[in-house]
Amino acid sequence: MPEADEKKEKNFYTEIPQKNKPFFLKGSNNFDWGLKNRLSHIFNPDTKKTVMLAIDHGYFQGPTTGLERIDVTILPLLQYSDTLMLTRGILRSIIPPTYPNGIVLRASGGPSILKELSNEQIAVDIEDAIRLNAAAVAVQVFIGGEYETQSVYNMTRLVDIGQRYGIAVLGVTAVGKNLVRDAKYMRLACRICAELGATYVKTYYVEEDFETITASCPVPVVIAGGKKIPEDEALKMAYNAIQQGACGVDMGRNIFQAQDPVAMIQAVRMVVHKNVKPEQAYEFYQETVAKKRKG
Ligand code: R5P
Repeated sequence: MPEADEKKEKNFYTEIPQKNKPFFLKGSNNFDWGLKNRLSHIFNPDTKKTVMLAIDHGYFQGPTTGLERIDVTILPLLQYSDTLMLTRGILRSIIPPTYPNGIVLRASGGPSILKELSNEQIAVDIEDAIRLNAAAVAVQVFIGGEYETQSVYNMTRLVDIGQRYGIAVLGVTAVGKNLVRDAKYMRLACRICAELGATYVKTYYVEEDFETITASCPVPVVIAGGKKIPEDEALKMAYNAIQQGACGVDMGRNIFQAQDPVAMIQAVRMVVHKNVKPEQAYEFYQETVAKKRKG
């Protein structure tokens, strides 16, 4: 038998209204508790931003430069990532289950780099995503591509299933070879993903009018790093994107192909979470590389 609650003086704080704080993330207030909890394992509730480490490139291009041995090159970066974006194959075979942050599982695929990439299908069952404790699933959406409708269908299907179990869906705007990567295209692609239910959207940074992409997208936007550029330029791109309304980066090659990936991800964190100017973050990067050289 439980002990009786014999305390006479209870305090119900009747003068204090119950706290009812809106959820911190743009466009996410009306989700259920489980989905909000998973989003809190992707985005930092204090800064409202995320540094996602994207290492899923192998799903269509095999052992990408810098990802040949994920156990050797990527494991040292995990402690600096807010989230990992990867395939279930790499998650199960290499990532320690003690990784405490959100997992964003690559959930579309099919064609390799040798074929028409936009012809993707859903590549994971929701049961397996749940088994792997995924916070989100990621799906390419090829607006304007040959297989546009199929890729939109992949996303909406995952949104339906994801909503059922409280798993977020990251719509990844993938730009086909013959399409212009500008603000007009990105506004269109991001907005379509959001309208059709993506929990958040990944896009490329564009120099002109990027803020119109984030403003017209009702859910958080994160930027892809894209192909490798010099470290100072990558930091500037991340900084500009954040200043223009991005909620984070989903960066791969510009981190793991950097001369010093550990220093680079730390520098990226500085611009994303602390609004540190890119020049200052780059100085940190250079100093860290120099110190390591000296031994
Ligand atoms: C490509 O579709 C993959 O989703 C990558 O994860 C993505 O492109 C981000 O990686 P990166 O920063 O190397 O562009």
